[in-house]
Amino acid sequence: MGDKVFVTGANGQLGVPLIRSLVADGYTVVGQARTPKRKARVEQAGASACLLGDVYDIDLLTDGCRDARFVFHLAGAIRGRGQETADRINRMGTANLLAALERAGSTPEAVLFASSCAVYGDRSGLWMEEDMQPSPMTRYGLSKAEAEAMLLEAHAQRDLPVRIARIGIVYGPGFTVLLEDAIRRGRAWLPGEGQNLMPVIHVDDAVAALRAVAERGENGGVYHVSTWTPVQANDFYRAVAQRVGGKPARFWSTYVPTFVQQGIADTYERALSRTGRRPLLTPDMLKLLTASVRLKPERLDKELGFEWRYPELDAGMDATFADGGSRP
Ligand SMILES: NC(=O)c1ccc[n+]([C@@H]2O[C@H](COP(=O)([O-])OP(=O)(O)OC[C@H]3O[C@@H](n4cnc5c(N)ncnc54)[C@H](OP(=O)(O)O)[C@@H]3O)[C@@H](O)[C@H]2O)c1
Repeated sequence: MGDKVFVTGANGQLGVPLIRSLVADGYTVVGQARTPKRKARVEQAGASACLLGDVYDIDLLTDGCRDARFVFHLAGAIRGRGQETADRINRMGTANLLAALERAGSTPEAVLFASSCAVYGDRSGLWMEEDMQPSPMTRYGLSKAEAEAMLLEAHAQRDLPVRIARIGIVYGPGFTVLLEDAIRRGRAWLPGEGQNLMPVIHVDDAVAALRAVAERGENGGVYHVSTWTPVQANDFYRAVAQRVGGKPARFWSTYVPTFVQQGIADTYERALSRTGRRPLLTPDMLKLLTASVRLKPERLDKELGFEWRYPELDAGMDATFADGGSRP
């Protein structure tokens, strides 16, 4: 088998650093992106080619998967534009990838799926273990859980070498979750009360972990991709403010009841889905931003002997803002 790696969602926050890391180790990366500008970004990151199109194009996915040693299925989102729901992107996109893998006529060494801690819903800060069943409370979490189930079924039925990474909240240079600009301007507002626990991981560790799972993980295995040290949302945003100035995020649930927030987000999402634009706030996002969950990265630690570069938030934040700003 050659050294081709196919990466879907290649222009994303995780895709670009993953490509850089793979290329640095001699892999030949073929990406997928949806616009010429994003394709150019993927090629700049070192990919030898980038297929232009989306996860609804099975021919494209088949080309990508053909003769690939590894497939990283990163294409995914909480919400797309207009009518493009999480179900369409994550579940249907994964079904298409599975169809493409059958058509490609070659079996990769591993198919890595970028799932999410959102499959657990809100667990009030309980520790999650990797063999726990999903219990999603958002359409996004459900679509990821259903995609996982389809992949695991393909592993059981036709021995497809599938590996699932349930990823926590990734931060690093340029990551939108940091709310860097809003904090700098003193205008960062978030739902909840800031006391929810976020299972965080720095992007360098996340990329290394995704690779470790793909390259050395067990077929049919589920792996948590997170540090052992979750942080409260208010501490996370305080850490950003300490480094960029401005004001830490403030939390609006102290002032606006949850049912009112949900109603507003629901109406806004419905209105935007008629315009073909991407809603910036949805009921799912409210739930995801306030969910409290801790991930035990037991398998990464014990089975793969993973060594975190930034096991604690402070060191990860220092690295994120080492150059004074978080542009990648
Ligand atoms: N970052 C995190 O904290 C985190 C946590 C848990 C799970 N994950 C999962 O990890 C994966 C990568 O995350 P990320 O942070 O890199 O996200 P990202 O920056 O939003 O990138 C997502 C990628 O998926 C692509 N995509 C979305 N809809 C698509 C469609 N219909 N067809 C083809 N491509 C599509 C996006 O393309 P466009 O740029 O064209 O939209 C982009 O390339 C996602 O599946 C995400 O759900 C991420």
